[in-house]
Amino acid sequence: TAIQAFDMVLFGGTGDLVMRKLLPALYHQHQEGNLPAEGRIICLGRSASDTKAYLDKAHGLAKGYLGKAYNETDWQTFADRVIFHKVDAGNTDDFKALAETLNTFPDRSRVYYLSTASDLFAPICKNLDAVGLNTPNSRVVLEKPLGHDLASARKINDEVSVYFEENQIYRIDHYLGKEPVLNLIALRFANTLLEPLWRREWIRDVQITVTEQVGVETRADFYDKAGALRDMIQNHLIQLMTIVAMEPPASIDADAVRDEKLKVLRALKPLTPETLHTNVVRGQYRAGAVAGKPVPGYLEEPGVPADSHTETFVALKAEIQTWRWAGVPFFLRTGKRLQDRIAEIVINFREAPTSIFGKVAAGANKLVIRLQPDEYVRMYLLAKEPGNRPRLRQVHLDLDFKETFTTRSPEAYERLLMDVIRGDLSLFVRRDEQRAAWMWVEPILEHWRNSNEPPKPYTAGTWGPAASSALLSRDGLCWHEEA
Ligand code: BG6
Repeated sequence: TAIQAFDMVLFGGTGDLVMRKLLPALYHQHQEGNLPAEGRIICLGRSASDTKAYLDKAHGLAKGYLGKAYNETDWQTFADRVIFHKVDAGNTDDFKALAETLNTFPDRSRVYYLSTASDLFAPICKNLDAVGLNTPNSRVVLEKPLGHDLASARKINDEVSVYFEENQIYRIDHYLGKEPVLNLIALRFANTLLEPLWRREWIRDVQITVTEQVGVETRADFYDKAGALRDMIQNHLIQLMTIVAMEPPASIDADAVRDEKLKVLRALKPLTPETLHTNVVRGQYRAGAVAGKPVPGYLEEPGVPADSHTETFVALKAEIQTWRWAGVPFFLRTGKRLQDRIAEIVINFREAPTSIFGKVAAGANKLVIRLQPDEYVRMYLLAKEPGNRPRLRQVHLDLDFKETFTTRSPEAYERLLMDVIRGDLSLFVRRDEQRAAWMWVEPILEHWRNSNEPPKPYTAGTWGPAASSALLSRDGLCWHEEA
């Protein structure tokens, strides 16, 4: 179906996310002819600037981010859509000017993308309302992390819901827009092969890993208050876990999918003071070397207080108390300044109950869904090596998305922005889901707040603190890359 004309309003328009991800995403979609011709992109920022100066800056940055996709003519036609306005979130007068621009096309659907800190969500919505911009045909996109704990998230959601209905609110988690994640949904629910095996009887453990090589970069202001638990686990990793663990939804409709994800979140075994201690590892990087280059420790990074206890690494064991998953540990791990940049989901199947091959049979089946840096699904099997001796070796069946599909694999934000423009909520987090995720991490936050124990140090360029491996070895398991 054709997409109706829309106006896309980007709050936080001079910020990193807009420059690095959102404008390039919209450019790609423009270039491929997916945006209706009339759609405008209205970028807002606090600093005084005009559209020309703003575009000069965006242009310079976009060239770098777009690489080969950059093309002078396409950029020009894209830039024609862009308008810059100086808008301070708390200043109603600034919103009047915005309203004037938007009201030249009163019938268009509008998207307000709040790419700002979440304490500005309420003042922005209030001011949109003050100038009559929260029309029924408008949608609001909320970036993560929303709030810093359960109570603050509830407050922000309450405030936003004064001005927008739940079906107008798009809580974005860009991990849900990554192509391999969508493919995991296809793998699970368009095929019958895996479904009978996708349960406790056949699966020993699940590992969800998102590691980065970068450190805190220039975001210490934000990051030191957030930490890896709020920045990554509460949203991205928990969301991935719901996709792995949910029951087959009755349809692909937003609420059918989100109902199933919510059931997983509600079945998460709450962490208690005892399990918190054994099942959650908090780490912080020290100086080391990443990809052969020496890097400073977290406490030496500009803007980080020298006594900060903020975690840059988390590994934890979660359990889902359902008939499908009881007793199967879900290990979640994320961190900065680690050895490699990897995002993947590893499903470890049980070993053969008995081996007719004797000692030569090593290992069990596993399925790896790799999100980045490459995109593949890989099934590990045991095969017999050619020759007279019965030697078995681990080999794999590969589905490499780049090789299989010649079409470009769009970035997560492209897909999700188009979903907002189309009005499809299925890949956005519903309020009850978000609340359940905060509820589950809340005891961890509280435990850390009340503990004097600093995070466990790890050397930059490793896989994190030793306690992370110990978390698995206690169950006789190991991380995928240690196997
Ligand atoms: C963001 C976090 O949500 O995700 C960042 O705030 C992190 O700290 C980023 O670097 C990782 O996203 P991606 O898509 O690059 O893996």
